[in-house]
Amino acid sequence: MPRLSLLLFLGLLLQPSLSSTPSSCSSAASVKPIVSWAQNATHVAFEVKFTTRASAPARSGYKVSEFRCEAADPALPADDFSDGEEGAEDDDDDEEGSAASPLQNMPAPAPSSHSSVYVFSAPAECGPGDKTFVLDVSLWGPVKESEVAYKDSSAGRVTVLAEKKSPTSWESLVRTKADRTNVRKWEAMQAQMDKEEAAIKERVQKTMDELNKKKNSKKKKKKKKAKTEGAGDEL
Ligand SMILES: *[C@@H]1O[C@H](CO)[C@@H](O)[C@H](O)[C@H]1NC(C)=O
Repeated sequence: MPRLSLLLFLGLLLQPSLSSTPSSCSSAASVKPIVSWAQNATHVAFEVKFTTRASAPARSGYKVSEFRCEAADPALPADDFSDGEEGAEDDDDDEEGSAASPLQNMPAPAPSSHSSVYVFSAPAECGPGDKTFVLDVSLWGPVKESEVAYKDSSAGRVTVLAEKKSPTSWESLVRTKADRTNVRKWEAMQAQMDKEEAAIKERVQKTMDELNKKKNSKKKKKKKKAKTEGAGDEL
């Protein structure tokens, strides 16, 4: 029966490609992506770049297959990042905490609560032996879990925007030094957020000034009126 054996042979050949479903993806080696972060009083923004070195280009062809953010174990204490110890970061712009931020004088968040975020990214087509990127970290402080969203920012990158539960300054994006090895400051985004925040403050100040002006001129008018009326009484 030559025909049957040929079919069997074909079946065996097809087997490996048929099995490259998500289940085979999870057996791929998992590595940590590079994370850059920025903040303003109310939000943290971070970019997850699918690569293992900050200076390397992002690897396209990856998609987020799972994303979660939830309240984490409140017992985990925050590491102290203010001692200047830098951790094993590799290169370029990791000057975290050195720039004088307008937020720096705000109180640190209560160490009793934080959130944890989990981003699992698998190659869009999981080839055997390929990497998957897993970011599984405890955030510095608590965030509004329902207000956390991510979007693809460009090939091989996703951007996450999270609203802080309370407007405080975070010392780092993450809570432990171990998590911090792949985390650095996102200078361009920080500059943009600082600018936006300053613009908001300026608008608020302007409105306040205008309100005060109106109030003052009303007071003056009232005073004037009172004066003229007073003068009238004397007549
Ligand atoms: C912080 O940044 C977010 C995202 O850009 C923005 O929606 C929010 O209004 C900003 N908050 C302040 C206080 O500037």
